[in-house]
Amino acid sequence: MNTDNLIPRAINKIKRILGLQTDSRTLFLKTMPHSSLCAEIGVWKGDFSTQIKTVTAPKKLHLIDPWEFQSEFPDRMYGGDVAKNQLDMDNIYEGVRKRFENNPNIFIHRGKSEKVLQEFEDAYFDWVYIDGNHYYEYVLKDLRLCLSKVKPGGIIAGDDYKWGEKEGFPVKRAVQDFVKENTLEENLQILGSQFIIQL
Ligand SMILES: C[S@@+](CC[C@H](N)C(=O)[O-])C[C@H]1O[C@@H](n2cnc3c(N)ncnc32)[C@H](O)[C@@H]1O
Repeated sequence: MNTDNLIPRAINKIKRILGLQTDSRTLFLKTMPHSSLCAEIGVWKGDFSTQIKTVTAPKKLHLIDPWEFQSEFPDRMYGGDVAKNQLDMDNIYEGVRKRFENNPNIFIHRGKSEKVLQEFEDAYFDWVYIDGNHYYEYVLKDLRLCLSKVKPGGIIAGDDYKWGEKEGFPVKRAVQDFVKENTLEENLQILGSQFIIQL
């Protein structure tokens, strides 16, 4: 038996039990408003959606994901890296549908964020969490759309700010370009791998 990780794992377990876990997503969620109108872009199996539900008790949580096998992105979990075909994505979608079927304030939107977001009225959301396609153009597109769909004073946040050293930090570059083009540099906070922009 490999005992190398036993001590750090035990420490993490104790932290979890005591509510002291310090991962940046958990910390970030604790700062989000309760009973709000919010969305998660990029849902996968709904693990983070469950955390949003548990920690923030949203008034309405909109889950946006096409659950589409995208073979043009073979190094992504939805393009061959994990899911191998459309059937895998259909099964993941079905799992999410079942997972939240008894939650009347959770709404599942099966479609790409660039299309689904446009269906909401402007200034609808209190906050949106971006964790979909991590290529630069897609993150920038999500950010620009969220600018009109999130209320003034609301929050656009997202995961993997430090992601993809090999690919040249696409999320970080998109966030930096976005805050620059909207003079929001001072409203950007980084918490571990999370970015948080207050509008
Ligand atoms: C990293 S996973 C999301 C993980 C999830 N947020 C979590 O933490 O449990 C990325 C997801 O983005 C979705 N996705 C890919 N392209 C997308 C797009 N254009 N719009 C919305 N979601 C997209 C994929 O289907 C996949 O489920």
